[in-house]
Amino acid sequence: MVYLDHAATTPMLPEAVEALTAALAVVGNPSSIHSAGQQAKRLLEESREQIAATLGADGIEVILTGNGTEAVNLAIKGIWWQRQTPARRRILMPAGEHHATLDTVEWLAQHEGAVIDEVAVDEVGRVRLDAFESALGDGSSVSLVTMLWANNEVGTIQPVEQVARLTARAGVPLHVDAISAYGQLPIDFHGLRRVTDAPGGAGLVALSASAHKIGGPAGIGALVLDRTAAVEPLIHGGGQQRKVRSGTQDVAAAASFAAAARVVAARLDDDAPRMAALRDRLIAGALDAVPSARLSGDPDPAGRLPGNVHFSFPGCEGDSLLFLLDAAGVAVSTGSACQAGVPEPSHVLVAMGRTEADARGALRITIGHTSTDADVDAFLAALPAAHAQAARAGLAARATSFDR
Ligand SMILES: Cc1ncc(COP(=O)(O)O)c(C=O)c1O
Repeated sequence: MVYLDHAATTPMLPEAVEALTAALAVVGNPSSIHSAGQQAKRLLEESREQIAATLGADGIEVILTGNGTEAVNLAIKGIWWQRQTPARRRILMPAGEHHATLDTVEWLAQHEGAVIDEVAVDEVGRVRLDAFESALGDGSSVSLVTMLWANNEVGTIQPVEQVARLTARAGVPLHVDAISAYGQLPIDFHGLRRVTDAPGGAGLVALSASAHKIGGPAGIGALVLDRTAAVEPLIHGGGQQRKVRSGTQDVAAAASFAAAARVVAARLDDDAPRMAALRDRLIAGALDAVPSARLSGDPDPAGRLPGNVHFSFPGCEGDSLLFLLDAAGVAVSTGSACQAGVPEPSHVLVAMGRTEADARGALRITIGHTSTDADVDAFLAALPAAHAQAARAGLAARATSFDR
C-alpha cells in the first residue's frame, strides 16, 4: 500500500513506538508520592518539557489532553466561559475551520448564547486580514478569536503573526489550532508572543497540537496555555495539570509523544524541504497527466504546507477517485467529512468560493515522513486510469439524472 494520507494520521516513528513500549512497563501513578509514583512523574515531566520545547513553550504551559479535538475544545470553551459577558459574546474565526472548532463554537452558540462571526477567506482559503480587522474592531464585544495555523484540507498557511498582533492590540485572547502545521512548520509560542507584543491574557494565549499527526500515538494531544490565560476546566477531579485538566495522566503516551516531537523537531530543517520537493513533483505530474485538474489552496509553495496537495477533478466524484486509487493500492483522502455515509461538499472549498460540483471532485494527497519518490511515482502511475474511470462514472451519473 502506498500511503498518501498523512494528514489523517501519519505512521508512528520507531522512536515513538520504542518509547511507548518501554514506558508501558513503568509502574506508578505520577500523582503518588512514593518513589514509584515519583519515577513515573519524572518521566512524565521530562516528556512534557520535551514536547513544550518543540512548540517554543515551557513544560508548565503544556496541558496534555486525550487528543487534539479535546485541546481545541478546552481552549475555546474554557476561554469562552471565563471571558463571556452579555456584552462580549462574539467568537471570531475564519471560515473553513476544522470541525473540532466549528462544532465547538456551534455548540456554544446553540447552548450558551455565543455569537459566531465567521470572517471571509480568499480564493486560496487565507483569511482576509482587512475583513478580520474590521470584524475585531476595538475587541470589546469579542470573547475570543480562534483560527487554524494551516488549513488541514487545502494546506493554506494562515497569517498567524498578523492575527496575533491584531488580537494582542485589541486585548483579545487568540487560540491557534496548530495540529496540521506541527511537524511541518516551525512553531514558536513564546517567540510569537514576544514579536506581537502580547500583553497578559491577550494575543496568542493557547495553541493546540496532536501527537498522531507527527508520528506519535493517537490518543494524546497538547494545549499550550500561556500562564496569563484564564480557562475554565472542562473536566473536574483530582486537580492534575494546574487544575485545568483533571485525571490521571498517561505517562507512556506522553513519553511516546515526546519521542516523536524530538525526532520531528530535529529533522524539520531537512524533512520540510524534502516533503515540499515531493509535493511539487506530485503537483506537476498530476497536472501533466490530467490537465483539467485544478489545484486548490495556495499555488505559491511558500504559502502551503510542505506535505499538502489538494486537487479538484471536474466531472469526477472525489469518492470514486478515492476508491479507484485505493483499489490500485494508493491511499488518499477527499479531505472532508461524510455525514452518515453521504459525501458532503467541503465547507472549506465552499468558503473559498468554489461551486458544490467543483467541491465534490476534491482529492487530498498528503505527504509525510515515510513518503518517498516511489510513492509519488505510484500515485502518478495510478492516476490516469482512475481519473478516466471516475470521469466516465461521473458522465453516466449526470446522464441518468438528466434522463430523469
Ligand atoms: C487541524 C486539525 N484540528 C484538529 C484535529 C483533531 O485532532 P485529533 O485527531 O487529535 O482529535 C485535526 C485532525 O484531523 C486537524 O487536522
